[in-house]
Parts: sequence; C-alpha cells; structure tokens
Amino acid sequence: MDFTHPSEKILNAPRRINMTRCKFSYEGESYKIVLHEVKSHNCIKICFGDLYINGQFNKQIVVKAYESISINHFDFDAYTGLVDEIEIHTKIESKIGYSKYFSHMLFHYWNETSIGVIYDYFGTTLEKIDMTQYSPKSKILMIQQLINQINFLQENDIYHGDLKPSNICITSNEEIILIDFGIGYFKDFYCNPRLNIKYNTTITAGSPEYVGIYLAFRAGKEYPKELFDKSQHFAIAGLIFGILINKPRIYFSKCFKIINSLKSANENLENLNLATRFKYFNDEFCNTMSNFISSELDLIPELNEFKPILLNMLEYDYKKRLDFNSILSQIEQINKYI
Ligand SMILES: Nc1ncnc2c1ncn2[C@@H]1O[C@H](COP(=O)(O)OP(=O)(O)O)[C@@H](O)[C@H]1O
Ligand SMILES: [Mg+2]
Repeated sequence: MDFTHPSEKILNAPRRINMTRCKFSYEGESYKIVLHEVKSHNCIKICFGDLYINGQFNKQIVVKAYESISINHFDFDAYTGLVDEIEIHTKIESKIGYSKYFSHMLFHYWNETSIGVIYDYFGTTLEKIDMTQYSPKSKILMIQQLINQINFLQENDIYHGDLKPSNICITSNEEIILIDFGIGYFKDFYCNPRLNIKYNTTITAGSPEYVGIYLAFRAGKEYPKELFDKSQHFAIAGLIFGILINKPRIYFSKCFKIINSLKSANENLENLNLATRFKYFNDEFCNTMSNFISSELDLIPELNEFKPILLNMLEYDYKKRLDFNSILSQIEQINKYI
C-alpha cells in the first residue's frame, strides 16, 4: 500500500492526545467527552458532544474521526484525509495563529488504526439553516464576514478550496465560521497529495477553476497570485446569491447540473477525480451560470444592485473579476440604503 506513516506529516502537530473511551489527560487536567450524536459521513464519523474538564462542563464540541474495523478494512482515503486535515490546521496555526472565524483544532489523536480531530461546535451549517429568519441587514453582514475571512486567509496564501454550504457554520450570534479545511492548501509550501482521490461530486465543484489551476501549478506551471486569489470567486458568488435569496445550495446544485450537461455521456459524475471534474470550467459554464443567476435576480427587484457584482465575479477572464476589497466596498454602498 502506498502509505506514508502519519508521524512523518504530523509529528509536531500541537495538542496530540491519547484518547481512551472518550477520556484523556492534557497538561495535568482530566478531560471527558460525552457524545450525544454520531453521524457517519463518507466513512468518517462526525460526533457531536460536550467537553468536560475536571468534571465541569466546558463547551460543545465535534469529533471528526476514523477507526478501521480491522486491518483488512483499512480505508486509506479516510485516514489520510484526517492526517491532511491535522497538517493544514497545524500550518494555519503556525502562520496566522488562532482565529475565532475558522475551525480550530482543539486536540487530535492517532494510532495505526484510528485518528480523530476535536473542534469547537459552531452551530448549524448554511446547508441546513432556515435563512428566512434573518433580516436583509443580517444577511449582508454575513456576506461581508464571509468575504473578509476568505480574503484574510488568501492574503496569507491559505486557500480553503471547498467552499460550500456544508462547510460554513452560522453561530447563534450570526457569525460565519469556515470549517472543513480537508482539501485546503498553502500556495507557497503545501502540497495536498489527496487531490487525485475520487470524490462524490453531487454538491461540490463550487470553485471549478480552483483545483484545475492548482494541479497545473503543482506540475510546474506558473500562475500569478491574482489568479489564485480569484479562483474561489465562483463559489463565493454562489454563496452570496444563495444567502440573499434564502437558498444557500442553489448555485451548487446548478453547478452540478451544468457540469452534468457538459460532460461526455460515458463519464460518471459520481466517480470523477478532481482533475477531470475541473476541466469543465469553461466559457460555456460561465455563461450558463451567469444567465441563470441573472434571470433569478430579475425576479427580485430589491436585489437588483447585487446583479453587477455577482456577474462580475462570474467572469470567465479572471482579470475582469474585482478583488475582494472592491467587492466589499460595493456591498458597503448597497448596505447604506437597506
Ligand atoms: N465544528 C463544527 N461545528 C458544527 N458542525 C460541524 C462541525 N464540524 C463538522 N460539522 C458538521 O459535520 C459535517 C461534516 O463535517 P466536515 O468537516 O465538513 O466533513 P467532510 O470532510 O466529511 O465534509 C458538516 O457539514 C457539519 O454539518
Ligand atoms: Mg465538509
């Protein structure tokens, strides 16, 4: 098996623990996790629970974990995915420290057969939340937060790479938190070897240009930072559009439908690797998506001012797309009149 032992990648990752039956010790304190709900998700378990320190409730947490049933049933992708996730969190932490707006690795554990990461619980994701409960002002604030956070990461050469409603939480204070940096990377010094694995494409493919250029970049092709910095504009435009019209997933399902119509008949969308999937980023994709968003916005006159901003973000030529600071100042102008 082509398998790099995790210790080579995450030996120095901070806050490694030995978890036994949901208990561990760290710096002289005893910790206990009480789980309420366990969900299986692509072989990974997502466990929701509470963290107790020395018997006192501390906070709500999420454990993202993989455990192989036996050595013969070892899921390489699931295990390695979590190794990558620990690695990128370590790198983010060493580069920009702690930010309350991105999921932050509290603890992690691993041995030959199991691996897990413990995060703060941040609330419901944009995928599941009922957006009609928020006022137009609140939604604009969320959009501004989202752009500011992605801009901040990108200024530090960190790219999330999988921006979509299931990877964005909204806290009870209406704060936007980015989670799931599993396929994120640092442009300058980080290579994510997992980009060739097969992905279920049902709701991903939000940034069709992003991985395409990243793969070519890794193969030696040079790209300006500006292109990297604008390569997630599609997913972000889709998220803004979805937040505004209370349907956060709409862009992402349209994305899937467009790619489905562009692919050849013998290709199975559920089984494309990322490189193949992202070859469908082309003029036709951009035009179809722009026409779709434009016609949907025509039905809602009060959102008309967002139309030029979103259509600009969906330009095929990245040089025509505005940078985040210009987008933010245009949104700020709209905000004044709402
Ligand atoms: N820190 C968190 N707070 C709240 N919900 C979370 C958190 N982490 C994960 N989840 C929930 O679990 C789901 C899967 O977690 P994620 O990290 O996105 O895994 P995957 O890599 O399998 O997509 C998310 O879509 C979200 O619903
Ligand atoms: Mg996810």
